[in-house]
Amino acid sequence: MRNLGPIAIVSAMQEELSTLIELMSGEPTTVGSRVFWRAKWFGHDVVAVLSGIGKVAAATTVATLIERFGVQEVLFSGVAGGLGDGVKVGDVVVAKELLQHDFDASPLFPRYEIPLYGRSHFVSSHLQHQWLVQAAKACLPGLSKAMQGEHLLGSLGVNANEIVVHEGLVVSGDQFISSQAQREDLRARLPLALAAEMEGASVAQVCFDFKVPFAAVRVISDRADDQASVNFAQFIEEVAAPYGAHVIQSYLQTRPTDE
Ligand code: ADE
Repeated sequence: MRNLGPIAIVSAMQEELSTLIELMSGEPTTVGSRVFWRAKWFGHDVVAVLSGIGKVAAATTVATLIERFGVQEVLFSGVAGGLGDGVKVGDVVVAKELLQHDFDASPLFPRYEIPLYGRSHFVSSHLQHQWLVQAAKACLPGLSKAMQGEHLLGSLGVNANEIVVHEGLVVSGDQFISSQAQREDLRARLPLALAAEMEGASVAQVCFDFKVPFAAVRVISDRADDQASVNFAQFIEEVAAPYGAHVIQSYLQTRPTDE
């Protein structure tokens, strides 16, 4: 059998990854300033790592995953601010395409285009994307049970039975979008964007460079507006962390093994 290398799971923040690392009980290896947790989980070789926040931290982490650990695919799991109409707190967005909303080499190149790539959008891998959508949808019925923070969901006006899994454009930039003005500016510039976060498009670009399959899932923690930072820490700890871990577990359980 050909050894295809481990499946990588990356999150930007400790709270997003801690539940998962506890569940998989992995062995740590440090490279540079990142700790990579390796385990055999649901029949797969898995390596989980906290990238840190922002595009550079995420890109260097994923380059290390590919070069040092020979990973066969990269999954990003975390939270995002909802931008699209109907993308509400507690919903899930699985990225079909990703773009850096703060990249601008105009007038030399069109706004958002990454020079020498001739593209602004990086598409996630079809198979991994489909598996991730299925895993997220499969989690929904058991969701309220999984969420210790249900009281928080309720206080945020989220009904666990109304959670929607969206698929589409996710935009990334080195900014936490936390004002109505920023939100409106982004929506006007990129009307198809469903959610904003700070890492995905850079990870997608690195995976494109190395031809490594990539997919990303984000739980919506806020609406990328004046209220974005209210409840943020509590949300990721109580809601996003267990839910993210459930989606990834569900992914690994249903994803075929490579034998
Ligand atoms: N991640 C979660 N919420 C976000 C926001 N409002 N802006 C950028 N990244 C985020």
